[in-house]
Amino acid sequence: MAKTSDPKHIMVIHGPNLNLLGRREPDTYGQTTLADIDSQLKKLGPQLGLEVSSFQSNHEGAIVDTIQTAVGNLAGLIINPAAYTHTSIAIRDALIVLTIPIIEVHISNIHRREPFRHHSYMADVATGQIVGLGVNGYYLALRAMAGLVGTS
Ligand code: DQA
Repeated sequence: MAKTSDPKHIMVIHGPNLNLLGRREPDTYGQTTLADIDSQLKKLGPQLGLEVSSFQSNHEGAIVDTIQTAVGNLAGLIINPAAYTHTSIAIRDALIVLTIPIIEVHISNIHRREPFRHHSYMADVATGQIVGLGVNGYYLALRAMAGLVGTS
């Protein structure tokens, strides 16, 4: 049932190269474009009492800046840090500051891929992680977020 009163604001952050979804390694990441994912999330949000905004960047500092805007403004954060998952202490440090639920999403199963993808700098900072379920992982994350922030 649609909830119209007082939606809680959730930000979805997509890291580098995810702007190429649909064209990028479709055997690994599928055919769905980032615009399709964001539009599905924005449609699903109100059904869960959530307002969804999204942000994609190929730049580590821009992602850090956006995470910093979450303080005091967001109820929850969903993030696919893409390759920065495996390298970025800066993004990890930005996430640690937040006191809201954080869900880390990966389209592919990073644990079935090259060894350098097995470690996530975000995993122990996130509330939870969804990996390997394709783009459905984003929609599952939003449903889980509704439970975490108490709108469903
Ligand atoms: C990814 C997995 C990362 O290892 C990779 O660098 C990405 C996408 C995923 O969603 O499966 O860019 O985060």
